[in-house]
Amino acid sequence: MRQILLITLGTILVVSLIVFGFTFNQVNEERLDLSADLQYRTRLLADSLKESVEPSYNQNSTSTLQRIVDKFSDRERIVGLAVFNNRGVPLASSVDIPARVIENPDFVFSALDTGEAAGVFENIEGDSLYLFVSPFSENGSVAGALVVVQNAAYIDEALADIWERNALRLFLQIVVFSGAIVLLVRLVLYNILKRFADSIKSARRSKTSPTHFGGPFFLKPLASEIAKMHTSLYEARVAASEEARMRLEKLDSPWTEERLREFIKAHVKDRKIFVVSNREPYIHHKEKNVITYSVPASGMVTALEPIMKACGGMWIAHGSGNADRETADAEGKLAVPPDEPHYTLKRVFLTEREVKGHYVGFSNEALWPLCLMAHTRPIFRKEDWVEYRRVNGKFAETLLSEIRDVQQPIILIQDLHLSLLPKMIKENRPDAQIGLFWHIPWPSAESFSICPQRKEILLGMLGADVIGFHTQQYCNNFLDTIGKEIESKIDFEQFSVTRDEHQTFIKPFPISIAFSTEKAIPTVTAPDSKELEKFGVHTKLLGLGVDRLDYTKGILERFKGIEHFFLKYPSYREQFTFLQIAPVSRLEVLKYREYGEAVTAEADRINVAFGTRDWKPIILHKKYYNHEMLNKLYQLADLCLITSVHDGMNLVAKEFVAARFDEQGALILSNFAGASKDLKGALLVNPYSAEETAEAISAALNMSKTEQRRRMKLMRESVKNYNVYRWSAEFIKTVTNVE
Ligand code: G6P
Repeated sequence: MRQILLITLGTILVVSLIVFGFTFNQVNEERLDLSADLQYRTRLLADSLKESVEPSYNQNSTSTLQRIVDKFSDRERIVGLAVFNNRGVPLASSVDIPARVIENPDFVFSALDTGEAAGVFENIEGDSLYLFVSPFSENGSVAGALVVVQNAAYIDEALADIWERNALRLFLQIVVFSGAIVLLVRLVLYNILKRFADSIKSARRSKTSPTHFGGPFFLKPLASEIAKMHTSLYEARVAASEEARMRLEKLDSPWTEERLREFIKAHVKDRKIFVVSNREPYIHHKEKNVITYSVPASGMVTALEPIMKACGGMWIAHGSGNADRETADAEGKLAVPPDEPHYTLKRVFLTEREVKGHYVGFSNEALWPLCLMAHTRPIFRKEDWVEYRRVNGKFAETLLSEIRDVQQPIILIQDLHLSLLPKMIKENRPDAQIGLFWHIPWPSAESFSICPQRKEILLGMLGADVIGFHTQQYCNNFLDTIGKEIESKIDFEQFSVTRDEHQTFIKPFPISIAFSTEKAIPTVTAPDSKELEKFGVHTKLLGLGVDRLDYTKGILERFKGIEHFFLKYPSYREQFTFLQIAPVSRLEVLKYREYGEAVTAEADRINVAFGTRDWKPIILHKKYYNHEMLNKLYQLADLCLITSVHDGMNLVAKEFVAARFDEQGALILSNFAGASKDLKGALLVNPYSAEETAEAISAALNMSKTEQRRRMKLMRESVKNYNVYRWSAEFIKTVTNVE
């Protein structure tokens, strides 16, 4: 639309300039013609009048002169006449002659002096006039002069008329041109380009076999190339799908979106998959009447979105955006991703009080610090628990109504916000197969025992057929907790808990990302390092941190490590910059607001202590960046620093590794992040030790390229082998295999 507007405005400007130039010229010529004509006619008139005036003048008959003047002065366009003697004194003048002619007859004096007739255009009191003086002689010398004043306003009117007519013509031309451009673009170009786009889209989605289409001659080469590309893509799709089908049971080959889709088709058949989480994958916002959407910074969303895109189904989540209601239908449903729908998002709307108690209170101030073990004291409020239970009930009601007519639905419940949901569903729908995935760590039985509502939570979770954690350690902790708190039969061989004849399997599923195997594609080149200028990074060496602004991420500990690094290795000053991307998170929770302030203050303190006029050791951006931008940063960084004081998995570590097609760069990873169990090529650190972090930064910056490659290869292999497609296939397979 903007381009059409620009083309139209450009055309209007050019046409206007041309029309203006022509009109200007035309007006000048017309002015010259009309002026010359008036001058000529005035001279003729003056000559004929002089014949009448001269005899009376010679007889000194002022009264006759006055009569003549009065008689001729009401002729068309004559404003006035006057007769002057040779001293410039008026002898007779018509009534309407402008006073300036009589009172200040300078032009008459000049004519009397020279004896030559002369004319001048003048604007007198707003009237455009032509003053003409013609001397007459007696006995060879100048005896007096006749003055004729003509109305010249019609010349201006004629010129104004030309401007007006041309402006009208211009306006009509603009309307016709703009209309023609819009029609041309809309009916011809837009339709052709849309057909191209549809063809590419259908090829991408592999919905149809290639189509051939025409188009105007100048687009024929493009049309032919697109048609060829469509055919190649279509063939590649068919081949990939066939290959995926053949590979299905060979678990050592890499998992892809295609393979997962084939797996779901073969294994789950037509059964419907429901994902339930608190955080939704797409949030709609409205600002100044403009609606936009965003993808939240959430490891859970990062992991689940590719699966839903591959398999379809329904994702039920809290609708937290201020435009979420108006962008969904009456049932709170909408097709997503908004730009290319693959599955249904069903939004559950909560009251402010419910959000405060369920999300802010019990989830984030009680369960989160309890499970994350980040030395932040959990707060257990009775009223938060009441809302937590109510919201789990609300999700249960929604889910139950969605699966009312669905046989044996597969339900994948996500995270700490919905621990009571499995039991609520199982009690109503024993045929449903339920998996609960706990995206955060599970603490020791001793730590968990401080939770006043522990029994209800554990019983709620045991409603699931499978409970998944990121690591075996968290599974062990969970079984210990069950042993301590719940009367049940625990099978340590199978890793299951049986209670009231219901068996729940507890298994590790280390979550991952949608690792892409595009290494061979030559277009995947490192981004231009000038990108970093936008972030204020000017040094050659770059360290990168990407985290939600959360106290569990150990950002303060990280900054301490960086401070130690500059203290111990001062030669890196002005050579190395640490860029911390930390989108704000959970601002409703006091601890997060305080943490955000502390992080800024700490960065400022270190920058004041070590920074110079042109360099800051730490650049902090508390802003959300999409995956595309983060991928560029990952590729430009010399090292990525992850110092979570506790973390279920940490997908940033895997994203960094996945982005490094060049097999360069070093990953420094906290011992306390689940990812440290998978990524053997990382430099592991205890984030509580600033000295260890500082040494790891130095080791990373001094690591040879060969060593970087060796480590990165190892890590990329691990992420590739256990990517999110495999994670989800294994989780779904385990859930659906349960009797
Ligand atoms: C962690 C949790 C997710 C959560 C995410 C973002 O990764 O495991 O369940 O979505 O943090 O937190 P938020 O409170 O914004 O959803």
